[in-house]
Amino acid sequence: MLEFRVNGRPCRLELGNASLLVDALREPLGLTGTHQGCDTAQCGACTVLLNGRAVKSCNVLARQAEGADVGTIEGLAAPGEWHALQLAFSRHHALQCGFCTPGMLMRALAMKAEGVPPEPAAVRQALAGNLCRCTGYEGIVAAICEWLGAEHA
Ligand code: FES
Ligand code: FES
Repeated sequence: MLEFRVNGRPCRLELGNASLLVDALREPLGLTGTHQGCDTAQCGACTVLLNGRAVKSCNVLARQAEGADVGTIEGLAAPGEWHALQLAFSRHHALQCGFCTPGMLMRALAMKAEGVPPEPAAVRQALAGNLCRCTGYEGIVAAICEWLGAEHA
């Protein structure tokens, strides 16, 4: 039995020892906002927060989350509301197909705790593990810089 909190809510799941965190989130819990792209820890689409740290959930066993706080895109804003980071992405046209976007947003949230400065070079470096096939990154970097800048102000 695995017990952890997802977006603040306690969860108990029966899972095999080899189950991945991404599968636990998507299948039994139905949190399909955490996307599955490469499944080999390369694309970052599956990024979630594990005790506040950004992790690639395809590269984490579900049992490694025992007792932890997991944050997914579904917990970013209250239903019907937008998080400031989402609004920044909208303003800067930082998404097209949107497949990478949940992972980008979760990675950006962790940047604040990591003290990443709101500067393009630093944000690009911090985003090195999150790939986007559509946007060319300009809008994503601009949105994250704007949000980090506002948070640091
Ligand atoms: S699906 Fe996890 S990094 Fe690509
Ligand atoms: S918006 Fe399509 S992969 Fe990033």
